[in-house]
Amino acid sequence: MTRWLVTGAGGMLGRDLTGLLAGLGEPVTGVTRDDLDITSAAAVSSAVEALKPDVVVNCAAWTAVDDAETHEDTALAVNGQGPAHLAAACRLLGATLVQLSTDYVFDGTACQPYPEDAEPGPRTAYGRTKLAGEQAVRAALPDASYIVRTAWLYGAHGPSFVRTMIRLARAGTSPAVVDDQHGQPTWTADVARQIHALITTGAPPGTYHATSTGQTTWFGLAAEVFRLVSAAGSHDNPERTVASPTPTTSDAYPRPAPRPGYSVLGHDAWAAAGIPPVGHWRDALHRAFPAIAESQP
Ligand SMILES: NC(=O)c1ccc[n+]([C@@H]2O[C@H](COP(=O)([O-])OP(=O)(O)OC[C@H]3O[C@@H](n4cnc5c(N)ncnc54)[C@H](OP(=O)(O)O)[C@@H]3O)[C@@H](O)[C@H]2O)c1
Repeated sequence: MTRWLVTGAGGMLGRDLTGLLAGLGEPVTGVTRDDLDITSAAAVSSAVEALKPDVVVNCAAWTAVDDAETHEDTALAVNGQGPAHLAAACRLLGATLVQLSTDYVFDGTACQPYPEDAEPGPRTAYGRTKLAGEQAVRAALPDASYIVRTAWLYGAHGPSFVRTMIRLARAGTSPAVVDDQHGQPTWTADVARQIHALITTGAPPGTYHATSTGQTTWFGLAAEVFRLVSAAGSHDNPERTVASPTPTTSDAYPRPAPRPGYSVLGHDAWAAAGIPPVGHWRDALHRAFPAIAESQP
């Protein structure tokens, strides 16, 4: 049986992944930041030596995209050096490393999906630090690592755009939402299943894009969430008045880190590995909605 170690197990993806693996009866140890700070080479090395995992999945990351602009060194310690420490420890032990990464490694200016081998061109500090993590892992473990890029995540165990929209819809607030950024809303539970499939099928090492198929904008996603909240609400209370989002442009929301206009990722590597890609973003949202709505205070 595969022994799994999941770092960043207190985060949104880490919690779903450890839950999935435990539910499947796989021997899994999930470590939170309090248990294991991946920026410490010594701590990483002794944890990996002690636990002797077959597979390490690194879900730990600095994910505050705007704050990374003013704290790039600190973000790099987590997103670049952390994976390098994990890769060195895996190499010594002969373990496989799955490193989570992001659409932000690309420049976000394309108009067709970025293939797995597209040239990176990060335009943010966060993207640069995540790219450094990818490069460190590939260099140390060319034959025993997977880079799994994902994007636009939402899940039952953490803040996300989807959760914010559920809250606003329930409060009867009609937000203005940007309609000029394109991407693939992705459920953390689907990413967890793809990671499990990579390992259990013995897929070729390399880069994979674990994002939903199809594409939409933040406005398109918000509109779908509002429809779901409205459908659930009208079932309970047919008299209720319902809010809805209105479209706006990125210029209305200047941010310290520029947001990519086009974050759609291609999925060819899954087909080559014989693993079905994640399904359509709307189906995923409909499947995820009950769990997310229920987990929301
Ligand atoms: N969320 C998205 O939309 C998105 C999009 C693209 C890619 N990704 C990537 O997907 C992965 C999972 O993201 P997520 O949304 O699950 O992130 P998350 O909820 O922010 O979880 C990240 C976890 O890493 C922990 N962490 C931070 N610094 C650490 C350190 N030095 N040592 C150990 N743990 C540390 C955090 O702990 P604290 O909370 O205590 O700081 C948190 O529990 C990341 O690699 C991220 O870059 C996410």
